[in-house]
Amino acid sequence: MIAAFERLVQPLLHALDPEDAHALTLKLLKFAPLLPAARDDARLAVRAFGLNFPNPVGMAAGFDKNAEVPDALFRLGFGFVEVGTITPRPQAGNPRPRIFRLDADGGVINRLGFNSQGADAVLKRLAARADAGGIVGINVGANKDSPDRVADYVALIERFASVASYVTVNVSSPNTPGLRALQQATALDDLLARVVDARERVAPNAGPTPVLLKIAPDLSLAELDDVVGIARSRRVDGMIVGNTTLARPPSLRETKLAGEAGGLSGRPLLAFATRMLAETYVRVEGVFPLIGAGGIDSGAAALAKIRAGATLLQLYSALVFRGLGLVAEIKSALVAALERDRLDSLAELVGADAAAVTAEPWPA
Ligand SMILES: Cc1cc2nc3c(=O)[nH]c(=O)nc-3n(C[C@H](O)[C@H](O)[C@H](O)COP(=O)(O)O)c2cc1C
Repeated sequence: MIAAFERLVQPLLHALDPEDAHALTLKLLKFAPLLPAARDDARLAVRAFGLNFPNPVGMAAGFDKNAEVPDALFRLGFGFVEVGTITPRPQAGNPRPRIFRLDADGGVINRLGFNSQGADAVLKRLAARADAGGIVGINVGANKDSPDRVADYVALIERFASVASYVTVNVSSPNTPGLRALQQATALDDLLARVVDARERVAPNAGPTPVLLKIAPDLSLAELDDVVGIARSRRVDGMIVGNTTLARPPSLRETKLAGEAGGLSGRPLLAFATRMLAETYVRVEGVFPLIGAGGIDSGAAALAKIRAGATLLQLYSALVFRGLGLVAEIKSALVAALERDRLDSLAELVGADAAAVTAEPWPA
C-alpha cells in the first residue's frame, strides 16, 4: 500500500519546492489511514540506553520538528522517531528558500535555523499521545536570541523528560550562529554537567531519561578526543554521529546549488560520516552505544554503519529521493545479512569494521 501510494505522490512532491513538499508530506501522514506496521523480525530488536527498540531504523531529527506525526512514522515501520529540534520559545528560523535538493548527488542542503513551534505547543502534542507507546526521542536546542543557551537546554530537559524516551542535546546544527561552539571542551563540559544534573533532578517524577549528545561530523580528531572524553566523564548515555556537514566534497555535481549556505546531508555525507562514526566508536570503547546517521540510502549503507560502530541508525535525506519504502528495504537487507552470517542479532555486527575503517585513507 505504501509503495502504490508513493508511486502516485513522489513525482508530485518532487515537482514542488522542497519545503512545500515537506509540509505536504506531513499533512498526508497526518491524515493517511495507515495500518499498523507488521511485526518486526525478532532478530532486528535492539536494546540500548535501557530501551527496547523493535528495529534499529530511526527517523532522524528535522523531519518532524514539532511532533506532528510520530505515530504515522511508527506505522511506516520506523523503530524509533526523534522529534525536534525544539527550542524553548517559538521561532521562525531563516528566510526561505532554505532547503535545496541536490538531485544529481542525492544530497540536501538546509539552513532552516531551528524553525520551531516552541516547547508549549510540542509538549501539548506529546502529552496527548503519551500512552501511545513507541520510542520517541526529543531533540532540544537553544533559541537564536537566547541570552543563556545552556539554560535553554536545561529548561527543555526539565519540561520534556516525562514524555521523552530519550533526550538529544543538539550542539551540532550549523544554522544557529555560534551553536557549534558548545562542542568546545570547556563549554561542552559545563553544558553536559548541567544537563545531566537537570535530568537527575527531575528523575524522581519523570523517571530515568537517557541523554544523548549529537555531534557535527566536521570535528577534528583532536576535538573528537575531547568530546568523547567529556561525554564519558559526564556519563551521557550515547552519542549521535552525526549532523549535517559544512564541507562541500569536490565530487558534488550540482555545483551551483553546492554554493548555498547550510548543512549538507544525504549520499555525499555517507563516507565521511561513517568514518567519523568509526573514529567515535574506537574512542568510546563500548562505554555507551552510538546512533549512526548521515547518508544512509540503502541496506548496504545501513549495514556499513552498523559494522562501523552504530547500534542504531537514523536517516532523513534519502527518504526524499527513495521514498518511505526505504525503511522496509533496509530492514529486509539487515535480516538477509544476519541470515547470511547465521547470526541471532545485529549486536554481533556492531563495530566489526571500526578498526579497518579508521585505517583507511581519509574519505575525499
Ligand atoms: C531538512 C533537514 C532538517 C534537519 N533538521 C535537524 C534538526 O532540527 N535537528 C537536528 O539535530 N538535525 C537536523 N537535521 C540533520 C539530520 O537529523 C541528520 O543528522 C542529517 O541530515 C544526516 O542524515 P541524512 O544524511 O540521512 O539526512 C536536518 C536535516 C535535514 C535534511
